[in-house]
Amino acid sequence: MTFTVEEPARDADEVRRRHEANRIAWDEGALHYTRELAADIERLRAGESSTHPVERAALGDLASWCGRAVHLQCASGQDTLSLLLEGAREVVGVDISGRHVDNARAKARALALPATFHRCDVLDTPSELDGTADLVYTGQGALCWIHDIRAWAGVVARLLRPGGRVLVFDTHPATCLLDPEATTPVWSGLDYFAHAERNTGWPAEYIGDVVEEHAVKHERLWTIADVVQALIDQGLALTRLEERPDDFWNAFPALGDEAKRALPMTFLLTAERR
Ligand SMILES: C[S@@+](CC[C@H](N)C(=O)[O-])C[C@H]1O[C@@H](n2cnc3c(N)ncnc32)[C@H](O)[C@@H]1O
Repeated sequence: MTFTVEEPARDADEVRRRHEANRIAWDEGALHYTRELAADIERLRAGESSTHPVERAALGDLASWCGRAVHLQCASGQDTLSLLLEGAREVVGVDISGRHVDNARAKARALALPATFHRCDVLDTPSELDGTADLVYTGQGALCWIHDIRAWAGVVARLLRPGGRVLVFDTHPATCLLDPEATTPVWSGLDYFAHAERNTGWPAEYIGDVVEEHAVKHERLWTIADVVQALIDQGLALTRLEERPDDFWNAFPALGDEAKRALPMTFLLTAERR
């Protein structure tokens, strides 16, 4: 994987241009998930949830409070459909990649599950869903693809019904400060406060080489404060914020366990619409 630092997107057109580039790149990345389709369906059929234990602990028994869960950036829908196993009565997934959404729909069809998937930019999440979500669920590699965090928070707020909750469990932004190949923590040289990058290829530990020529994609680092403030500005009340050593993929394969346990790898955030 190679990357070049670039300026953060400064206007709505540039945000859309980067999201569209990411759509093309994610259609490539989704091939990896298409290959896993049959195995993923069997896991769901067997009642195996792919949600992270940290998320499960924070969500509690969804059957007791969650009618509709909306999963933003749902990829091929494994976590989305797992929310049904966790007790949600109905799930809706939103993703920009057509191939991911096709995969998600194929899983739901195969198992006749109460799920709907929309292929669109998260910023264009259909307004018919406004005010209907008991839970907006997102994370595990989601926010870095969004180039306007304030607009993203606006979508979260409009989807939630009063009393509804958002849960974000995602990569801790401080991980961008670490050299991913180093065996002990070494500063990557990146700017914590305004990092944006253009890159190609996928980490071997994650998706690997699914195609020969990789499309250019764009990532943006949002600090914890960027995310929290964007939600506060939408009138949401923060109910939980944790910085955690837990990982959801092996982003630092060379780093020893001791260092990993002492560094913030992820954060968990929940907030409520009053
Ligand atoms: C790392 S994956 C997230 C994985 C997800 N946590 C899951 O359930 O497997 C990132 C996802 O974000 C999607 N994505 C990227 N930019 C997007 C955007 N602007 N709007 C909607 N989806 C987007 C990609 O297509 C991809 O499926």
